Amino acid sequence: MKKLFATIILSFCSIITFAQDYAYEWRGIMIDVSRHFLPIEYLYKEIDAMEHFGLNRLHLHLTDAAGWRLEIKSRPRLTSVGAWRTEWNWKTWWNGDRGYSDAEHGKGGFYTQEEMKQLVDYASKHGVEIIPEIEFPAHSEEVIAAYPEVGFNHAELDMQKSTTYSLMRDVLTEVANIFPSKYLHLGGDEAATQRELQPEGMRLVKQIVDSLGRKMIVWDEALTDEPSDSDMVIMVWRNPDTAKKAAALGHDVILCPGRYCYLDKAQDAPMYEPEGAGGYLPIDSIFMMPNPQVGSHLLGVQANIWTEHVPTPQHLEYMLWPRAFAIAEIGRLGLTSDRNLRYFRKKALKATEYLHNTLSINAFQLKNERGQRPQQKYKSYSFSINYNTSPHPAYQGVGSTTLLNHKTGGWSNNDGSWQGFIGRQGMDVTLDLGKQKDITQVSADFMQSVAPDIFFPYTIIISTSEDGTTFHPILTHSHAEIYAARNEDYALLTWPIAVRTRYVRLQALPGPKQGWVFCSEIFIK
Ligand code: ACM
Repeated sequence: MKKLFATIILSFCSIITFAQDYAYEWRGIMIDVSRHFLPIEYLYKEIDAMEHFGLNRLHLHLTDAAGWRLEIKSRPRLTSVGAWRTEWNWKTWWNGDRGYSDAEHGKGGFYTQEEMKQLVDYASKHGVEIIPEIEFPAHSEEVIAAYPEVGFNHAELDMQKSTTYSLMRDVLTEVANIFPSKYLHLGGDEAATQRELQPEGMRLVKQIVDSLGRKMIVWDEALTDEPSDSDMVIMVWRNPDTAKKAAALGHDVILCPGRYCYLDKAQDAPMYEPEGAGGYLPIDSIFMMPNPQVGSHLLGVQANIWTEHVPTPQHLEYMLWPRAFAIAEIGRLGLTSDRNLRYFRKKALKATEYLHNTLSINAFQLKNERGQRPQQKYKSYSFSINYNTSPHPAYQGVGSTTLLNHKTGGWSNNDGSWQGFIGRQGMDVTLDLGKQKDITQVSADFMQSVAPDIFFPYTIIISTSEDGTTFHPILTHSHAEIYAARNEDYALLTWPIAVRTRYVRLQALPGPKQGWVFCSEIFIK
């Protein structure tokens, strides 16, 4: 009796301990194995690391245009065609023929069912559940290359054809047989056509998922205003506010907003980092991710590594770690907790040592982190600004003071310190000094990040005016050299002039690649 009592107390304690150990039941990472196929041994390594840090969900993005990565016996062409493309490097392929090939001539690969079952089993023994993602209806070029009859166009499955749902049923039946997970992920993101049909399409695939006894997860585009399918879990990757709407409609939510959870951004000064998708996401920002206030509907948090720009396993490990450790820590502490950044960083340094020394994972060396871009200091007259071209609504910085608040930009183009201009006229502003002044130079701070099409201005034109109406060009300068030099770069550019004037017009024009011009500050003296 005494023994029984002790056992009850012990199990009760272990339940309490479990509850206290982790704030969330979902502490995940997503790996995109489609854009660049990842040999399975690296997934074993990730599982070892996940177990060590308390991460418990491995979401595999198994299908996309770039390759179908799982054997499906009833639909063999998904891999015999869809797993093999004409180029190994995604960027070369995507900017090239986007063609498919075969096992003999193509680049890529797939996991056999037997291999995947073994991985699932290993993961399960190490406290990690693997969740497969099968994209529907978009991101499906490889499916359509294999089975053209299900295509609405080259990229999206036809949501009005019964053959589409037969294929989905065949695929999901085999998928459910390989993965015992409670959840199956059915994509739903970034559909460009048949938008009005998507809610019904998602409902039909959900019926298949329901019939297999599983719950469906979808990306947040598949959220509708209807609360009817509220047992569908919403994975929020765009605006974190979507999480609130989803929770209000009764959905559970997994948070992986791009701004805090997309590990394809650089984790340190971008010009010294390996290639990524553009942007800057240091480990501290992930750890300090704000709480979107969705209460008990928050299932958990996840970091996603998309691999368009990540062609090797070593590069993948570098992008993942130690940043995924920040997700593990949030998953343990919760977003409502007081997060102690200094203590976290100490732990993250130790985690990095462990990743290198014990797991031989090529983690970013946190101890060598350079950190945020320093402020570029410059003297300036004060002036007011008039926009001849407007910054894009998504990139307004802090509004009309952005370019004259004496704050130069950080590494990230969307940190509120930059304004982004798109179009042939680039950035075109008129600066009013209030009265005539002797000026000797104009300077402005720009950035270049080629993956998201942000380029240094190619041509600068400075004009002056006495009356603010009639302008005379006094300087035209080409920046073709720095424009061509580096994929990631930042520069406070200076143009010497010697003139007495009240109005200065600064035009920063895009080059042959068009794209964005991003400016954080203008100085005149
Ligand atoms: C996504 O990033 N398209 C989910």
